[in-house]
Order: sequence, then C-alpha cells, then structure tokens
Amino acid sequence: MSRLEWRTVNPDGSRRVVVTKELPGDRWLEVLKAADCRVEICTSNDVLTTEEIKTAIGKSCHAAIGQLTEDWGDELFGALKSAGGTAYSNYAVGFNNIDLNAATKHGIPVGNTPGVLTETTAEMAVALTFAIARRTGEAERFMRAGNYHGWLPTLFVGELLKGKTVGIIGAGRIGSAYGKMMVEGHKMNLVYFDLYQNRELEDYISSYSQFLESQGEPAVTCQRAKTVEDLLKLADCVSIHTVLDDTTHHLINSERLSLMKKNALLVNTSRGPVIEEAALVKHCRDNPGFRAGLDVFEKEPNMAPGLAELDNVVIVPHIASATLWTRSGMATMAAGNVAGLLMGYPVWNKPEVLMFLENGAPKAAPSILNAKELKLSFHAE
Ligand code: DGY
Repeated sequence: MSRLEWRTVNPDGSRRVVVTKELPGDRWLEVLKAADCRVEICTSNDVLTTEEIKTAIGKSCHAAIGQLTEDWGDELFGALKSAGGTAYSNYAVGFNNIDLNAATKHGIPVGNTPGVLTETTAEMAVALTFAIARRTGEAERFMRAGNYHGWLPTLFVGELLKGKTVGIIGAGRIGSAYGKMMVEGHKMNLVYFDLYQNRELEDYISSYSQFLESQGEPAVTCQRAKTVEDLLKLADCVSIHTVLDDTTHHLINSERLSLMKKNALLVNTSRGPVIEEAALVKHCRDNPGFRAGLDVFEKEPNMAPGLAELDNVVIVPHIASATLWTRSGMATMAAGNVAGLLMGYPVWNKPEVLMFLENGAPKAAPSILNAKELKLSFHAE
C-alpha cells in the first residue's frame, strides 16, 4: 500500500491536475476550478520520489504543480508529456530543481512564482541579519537554560549596523528589496555585485541619500563592486541573493571567506549550495566573531557536520518565503500558470505580476520560463 495520501478537489473537472503537496489558501483552487480542473493533491509531508510522481501522473494528466524538493527532469517531463500533459508550474520562484531544456524538449511550458516572494524573503534576510548581529539565538538559548543571573556590561555584545556597509550578491528583486531595507532602515552604505548594473537601485539610494542630507543626516552611498572579492573585503554584512547554477555553486568557499572581515555577517536565503557549507563550518569555528544566518543548506534537509553546534550561526528551515500572504500568493501564481496554459491564454510578459492574485486578473499565464523557447504567444498590451 502507498505511504502517500491524496485528496481530490472538483472531482468532475475535465482536466486532471496533479499537485504534489498541499498548498496554503483557497484561491489557487478557485483558479483551477474555474479552468475546469480536477485537482489531485498529495496531502503527505514526505518528499515524493520521481517514481511516486510518475505513478501519480499515470496515463492521463493535463498538468502538474511540483515542489523545489523534487527533481523535475527528463523522466518526469517525459511522463507528463506521455500522459497528455501540457503545463507544469514549480511552487517556487527558484527553479534549480528543473531541467528546463528537458521540459522544452518535451514541449512542456514551465511556470514559476516571482514577485510574491520579494518583500517576504527580504524581510527574513533582515531578520537573520539582526539575529546574528545581536546574537539573539545564543541569548535565547542562554535564557531558556536558566543561565541569566543579572545584567552584565559584557553579556552578548554584538554588532551595530548603522553607518556600516551592507553587501548584496545578486541585485535582482529580492536582493534589491533587502538592500533598500538595510539602507533605509539602518542608514547603511550599500555595495552590490551583479552581472548587470542595477540603475534603478543606484538612483533610488542616491535620492534617499539626498533626502538624508536634506534632514541634516550623513549621506549613504551605493556602489557596484567589480568582483565578488571586492565586495567581500568591503562589506560588514553580506547577504546572498543569486540564483543557483554552475557559475554560483560554491561561490562562497574557504578562499573567499578568508577575504571577509573577521567580524563580518553572512546571510543566505537563496540556495544552500551557493555556500560550501563545510568551509563555512570551519571558518565559523576558527573565527568566533564571524556570524552566519542561514535559511538554506547545501544538502537540505541535512546540515554539514558541526554546523548545528556552532553558537555563531543562526539556522532556520528554508522559511524565508513563509508568510501566509506569500505562500498563498505563490499557490495562486502556480495555479494561474497552469490554468492559463490549459485555457490557451498567452503568456504575461511584464515584471509586475501581483494583479494575478486579485479578482479580474489578466487572461494570461503569469510567469512561464521557457515561453520564448517554445514560441508561445505573449499577452499583447
Ligand atoms: C523559492 O521560491 O525559490 C523559495 O526558495 C521558496 O519559497
């Protein structure tokens, strides 16, 4: 007997959609029901294997919504294609679990969920930044252990961020949102590394700096680093917001860690393998003043040996996008991708996507990654 449990919504729907995890909110189901879908949802928490997903797809399946913990490659897209499938959406903005070439080869459009995670993920990066700067993890463990016997001038002394330099690696939507939060909230100077110049971010911080000066406060600066190394040497606090691909795998390794300030802060809410975790463990062990805040791990859900024992590391279980608004918005976006494709709608081609969470959303699939490769038509507006 299968270890997995499933529930079906709208059993009379004519289009069968397999969803490999329960998703928050109800709106996404309304979107799929409106597209006449019969929705089969796996309600078990276990990560489904490729074999289990293939079994779920079966002989007839029009579309699927999958998770970042699943390996969507040739085998699954082939199975979906053979079952008559024409649409897939990841329930995530990141898509390093997807072999896009394989999907394109099988003619399956692949959706993702940008836009709804931006502020939520950036806020978690801020939370981790402050947790490590002010040592709240250590301090909380100390309190719970009954070790607080009175105020001391030397107890859990941390780092002040105001006026220091924050570095962002990857100045896309989430990186920029985090950068703005740190600059505006804490009057930090910003340095970013990205393959592309982010003029919007530079202009924004320049205007903010003028505002500060008009209030008699010191200016803040924004500069683009030529190399990751330049940024690491300069920043007091570094937050990672890149995609994971061959060029960013182990971007932070022992050599680069050694360039960072001895009391620097390092935050990662992107993907675990961007940091060589064993090297980070060693670096944190050798440099107790260095601190790391991690939402993601190299071999998730496992951690490198020794990581969990380090007091100068704060670890949370990949929850940067975990607010109800965002997680239900991601569900609506993923459903919108699948429903839009099944209804034969064109693909949306603008970065603003939040209107897809509202009533009267455009008749389009909000975010399809391989639309150009598949020569799908775009929404004309
Ligand atoms: C994503 O969407 O890529 C996050 O890692 C999970 O929300």
